[in-house]
Amino acid sequence: MPRLVVTNREGATSEIEVGDGLTVMEAIRDNGFDELLALCGGCCSCATCHVVVDPAFADKLPKISEDEDDLLESSDHRVATSRLSCQIPLTADLDGLHVTIAPED
Ligand code: FES
Repeated sequence: MPRLVVTNREGATSEIEVGDGLTVMEAIRDNGFDELLALCGGCCSCATCHVVVDPAFADKLPKISEDEDDLLESSDHRVATSRLSCQIPLTADLDGLHVTIAPED
């Protein structure tokens, strides 16, 4: 099972194991991080699942869609490696992916 490393808004980092086929958003939500609201349930329409990805993994991520890009544009906290975590399936080649939960907009 791929591992996901998550840093919360307080700066605490923990590592979780993620079942096959889950997105980064589902993995974070299912492991008790209540900071990630994910209000739309993963259909790319709310931007409350915003995370900042470790630049070391940026090239391995699925390409950003126009919808995701537009939603991220509405965030005051967007940075170069911002992504919506519901749009990132945690595949084996992303093992060890490190994301930081973005500040709330
Ligand atoms: S959960 Fe709503 S955009 Fe990701």
